Amino acid sequence: MNIKKELTDILCSVAKEMGLDASKICVVFSNRPELCDYQCNFAMLVAKALGEKPIELAEKIVKNIEKNAKNAKKYEFSAVMPGFINIKVTNLALSEFCNFIKNDKNLGVEQVEKPRLVFFDYGGANVAKELHVGHLRSPIVGEAMKRLHAVMGDRVLADVHLGDYGLQMGLTLLQLKIDGFLDKFFEKNAKIQDLALENVTLDLLNEEYPKASKRKDVDEEFKKQADDFTLYIQQKKEPYYTIYKKIKDLSVAEIQKNYALLNTQFDFYYGESDAQGSIDETVQIFVDKALARESEDALVVDVALEGEHIPIPKKSEDEPQRYKNPMPPAIIKKYNGGDVYATTDIATILIRNRDYHPDEIIYLTDNRQIMHFKQVFRCCKLAGISPESQKLTHIAFGTMNGQDGKPFKTRSGATVKFKDVVNLLISKAEEKLASNGIKGDRELARKIGVGAMKFGDLSNTVEKDYVFDIDKFLSFDGKTGPYIQYTIARINSILSKANFKGGEINIQSEEERNIALAILKLNSAYNVCYEAYSLNALCLATFDLASAFSTLYNNHKILAEIDENVKQSLLALSLLVKACLEKALWTLGIDTVEKM
Ligand code: ARG
Repeated sequence: MNIKKELTDILCSVAKEMGLDASKICVVFSNRPELCDYQCNFAMLVAKALGEKPIELAEKIVKNIEKNAKNAKKYEFSAVMPGFINIKVTNLALSEFCNFIKNDKNLGVEQVEKPRLVFFDYGGANVAKELHVGHLRSPIVGEAMKRLHAVMGDRVLADVHLGDYGLQMGLTLLQLKIDGFLDKFFEKNAKIQDLALENVTLDLLNEEYPKASKRKDVDEEFKKQADDFTLYIQQKKEPYYTIYKKIKDLSVAEIQKNYALLNTQFDFYYGESDAQGSIDETVQIFVDKALARESEDALVVDVALEGEHIPIPKKSEDEPQRYKNPMPPAIIKKYNGGDVYATTDIATILIRNRDYHPDEIIYLTDNRQIMHFKQVFRCCKLAGISPESQKLTHIAFGTMNGQDGKPFKTRSGATVKFKDVVNLLISKAEEKLASNGIKGDRELARKIGVGAMKFGDLSNTVEKDYVFDIDKFLSFDGKTGPYIQYTIARINSILSKANFKGGEINIQSEEERNIALAILKLNSAYNVCYEAYSLNALCLATFDLASAFSTLYNNHKILAEIDENVKQSLLALSLLVKACLEKALWTLGIDTVEKM
């Protein structure tokens, strides 16, 4: 049962009977909820062309609905100035809707007509480097976006796409070698496969990489050596390759632990290195199709569209033609023949298309990579590596800022570690729980702390920066994750105390109506967010439902209700609210808790 569709059908059939152009009919939630639940401005759109007054046309339509339309009894239509048709959904219709969705496996969320295979690329942590605060948003937004697609009926796959191939690996290896941690691997006749990385821990890597990274900027010879080491790894030369693999295993285990803290689940732990086998083939495609040209010893692809590629007047005849270009050419091979980030991504698309044929690939990174993905996508389309029908989408998000509006840092100005942010959230949540009398439940605190951050993040528009305000996020009251979790815990408590028999819902009071309407709006938020690649509307609608339930809870003592029928209906409604809130939290990647 879909109320909006029923309303649209009623209006359409009447409009057609009246000889009006029904294609202009659009029913939306009312922006004056005190007056009505839905509204339609159809009469205003068509009246003028017919030489009629909108209000008179609206009145005629309403009259005809009352006379003719079946199903109309469930809704009250009225014409109001200057020509709106206002619609109130009766308690009967709302009850029918609630009873229908409580038995529906999707709880009434309208799924897409044609499910697609959507491939997600998020996370993207770099191996051999510790995750920091900048790595939080991709798994948070990516996981929620993936789940939203799954809820909407798409098939989803997710790849973490680790940064496991670049200079950082060469740098780390070189530094470890210089500092004597790899001596055994370089001994003559060493059985490198059997050797363990003794004394190489993550903490050590956290020191070695930054050390090397600093040195490369001032020490030309060192940088060259690191480049060589990187190349050896890429050529699978021993012992470099085996050492690299061991370092990678070590840090992937840690990366997995970090992502698990956020309930982030990947189908694949592939990385940039997995694309390397397809790099040559990828470059060759551009060469064969005459899409690549040499430029300053690099191989580039012109991806600018007409109008984006503006020639700069030459000063002399023999000067090469240069272009002013907001969309610079994509470099697919570097001067030294080394592989580049863009080529890795293009090759990865080639592989994904060969193995899975996704209808869409969605990437989540911060907004510094907007140009990179534009270039990659255009290259893939130009070369036919991505079929025309395939959608390539980059969702670029802003940064997580501190209260001062600048990227979140420690007091001393250092980058905050990923783990430290999560630990801070957990300990703050523990404090909160302790003041509610719950002690020593770290997993519960994790669910609440992480849920708080996720809800705080996702309730903002994805592309904007947002302020990490831990106290606000963790408030048990307000537009927060914990508030929603708390509402569910409260419903659990009511249900555990009541003798609920599993009956039907019979909407009566204003509070109950508002709950049913909030569920309708929540369900439509899934569609809105799916279309807009966003999640904030879903957060907001989830909060509104929790808040509508709190109003009922405060105004109506459900457990003390003496009319058994009323009580059973309220309990059934509470159970439905719980299911809807749980579904929404699941979509957002937020855990629910039994009590708090
Ligand atoms: N490792 C990259 C970085 O840290 C992010 C990877 C994003 N995904 C991709 N397919 N390029 O910037």
